[in-house]
Amino acid sequence: MSEADVIAKFEAGLQAIASDYPAAFGACSTEPALRAVNARLVGPQGELNLLLKLLPEVAKEKRREVGQRSNQLKNQIQQTFQAKLAEIARAARDAELSATPLDISLPGRSHKPGRLHPLTRIKHDIIDIFVSFGFDVAEAPEVELYDINFNKLGFPPDHPATDMQDSFFIAPPAGSDPPSTLLRTHTSNVQIREMSRRQPPLAIISPGVCYRRDDDLTHSPMFMQVEGFMVDEGVTFAHLKGVLTRFVHRMFGPEIPVRFRPSYFPFVEPGGELDIGCVFCKSWERHKTGCRVCKDSGWIEILGCGMIHPTVLRNVGYDPQRVTGFAFGMGIDRTAMLRYGISDIRNLYDNDPRFLTQL
Ligand code: PHE
Repeated sequence: MSEADVIAKFEAGLQAIASDYPAAFGACSTEPALRAVNARLVGPQGELNLLLKLLPEVAKEKRREVGQRSNQLKNQIQQTFQAKLAEIARAARDAELSATPLDISLPGRSHKPGRLHPLTRIKHDIIDIFVSFGFDVAEAPEVELYDINFNKLGFPPDHPATDMQDSFFIAPPAGSDPPSTLLRTHTSNVQIREMSRRQPPLAIISPGVCYRRDDDLTHSPMFMQVEGFMVDEGVTFAHLKGVLTRFVHRMFGPEIPVRFRPSYFPFVEPGGELDIGCVFCKSWERHKTGCRVCKDSGWIEILGCGMIHPTVLRNVGYDPQRVTGFAFGMGIDRTAMLRYGISDIRNLYDNDPRFLTQL
């Protein structure tokens, strides 16, 4: 090929690139596409470099001029490339700015921490008060021997509480009658169990679950009690009154009046019930009528109590001539209902967070 032909070919090549690049760059809308076109034109294997390979065939003086023209074109291409690159970056930034904004002031998703069930809180409150009086905490089984739940506590065989209606019996082994095990109907079994294995002086508090075949607004077949008792030489009803009055004032408030009423439980003598002034209508401040909770009596019963029956002391091997004791049992559910003003006990066991988180 003559030098003139080479130069002509070179010129034609430059011409082709020069007329191609503005449209080729113009058609690109993304950075990778733009870089690909740039590489095709001026990259190491690009069209311009292919043309430059013709140069050695051109005489030196001509080569300079031709080389300059190719450099000029390369510079133009570079400028156009840089301008288009900036344009694409700006468009991307504009799109970002006009898109729906990311609102970094939105509050994060909070984790709702769990909390103790109201019955558990009441139970802890009751235990704390008695522990501060020096009582020990004990436990007794929920599946209990009939003998301990009833007989050792002095229930006569025909006592209504021993009736099949009241208890959940555990199916007896074939041939044994009456059933010898049941779900305890009260926490008083802890009296027998603790006294049988320990010697006075004793002061014990024992919270736990009990079961009776009851089911209405104020009775649940599963419920919670706290049993408490104290045995020593010279324990009297005055100790019972003092401890329980002090407890009520700590639990419900120092202004709450208390009243002890005679009552009957087979395992105490004398036996009583403790009423507190109705915390809803506060009848001791001014007489109000229409209180649903105390039915206008002004009093609410909170527990059963009494001096431990000599028969019970004998049943656990104590000498009733030497030691005496008092005992009491209160419903935790009932205490929670009073404290929080709940009218249906089942709310406490349904475990609906919408209810529980209000307490
Ligand atoms: N165990 C009785 C009940 O469940 C309560 C009680 C306990 C009464 C201790 C007197 C003494 O009703």
